Amino acid sequence: MPASLSATVSPAANVTTGAATGRPLRLAVITGSVREGRFGPTVARWFAERAAARPDLTVDVVDLAGSDAELPLHMAAPGPGGAALTARLDAADAFVVITPEYNHSYPAGLKNVIDWHREEWHAKPIGFVSYGGLSGGLRAVEHLRVVFAELHAVTVRDTVSFHLVWNQFDDQGRLAEPAGPEGAATAMLDQLAWWGDALRAARSTRPFAA
Ligand SMILES: Cc1cc2nc3c(=O)[nH]c(=O)nc-3n(C[C@H](O)[C@H](O)[C@H](O)COP(=O)(O)O)c2cc1C
Repeated sequence: MPASLSATVSPAANVTTGAATGRPLRLAVITGSVREGRFGPTVARWFAERAAARPDLTVDVVDLAGSDAELPLHMAAPGPGGAALTARLDAADAFVVITPEYNHSYPAGLKNVIDWHREEWHAKPIGFVSYGGLSGGLRAVEHLRVVFAELHAVTVRDTVSFHLVWNQFDDQGRLAEPAGPEGAATAMLDQLAWWGDALRAARSTRPFAA
């Protein structure tokens, strides 16, 4: 998967949120899994392509396994890679976190990136695409909601979830039964775009203070 995917398209007249203002929302899609042999990029690619096809969003795929995300675990000063990651999170109006479930929660590397940042999350909406074994990553998402509440982020209710994820995609990364996940992705992105538009306008008229 490329380290980043950008798509800027013209706003459509019948689309509200970012397109209504003529300024698409900048969506950072964060791939939370960094494990060797991970399934995450397959899920991230499927989702990012759907998001990038919308007129109200531009998409930046932030792969935490990439060199941009090399943050130390001991919270010392980050190197240039860490600063580049911070700049991309700061530029985003909204986030979607792609998370697997590890032992009933989310990956440690994802927590490290969350904890390294503060204002970058403030007053911004966050959606989730989760995957895993039987759980579909739903427990990971519930844990992330609590963490992001502490960071003054707004998590959207609807999610996209893949249980037994390895059974749902073929070797080319195509879904065997796309209708359900596509509908879920649209519902989640519609909610995310509403919040993203509202919060971007609010931040621009009155800086968020925490
Ligand atoms: C250390 C570890 C713990 C896991 N724990 C769970 C779990 O608690 N619940 C679940 O549904 N799946 C669990 N799984 C399955 C993963 O969610 C699944 O393998 C997924 O593909 C992992 O994402 P990744 O391949 O992108 O790293 C676990 C996998 C690993 C490697």
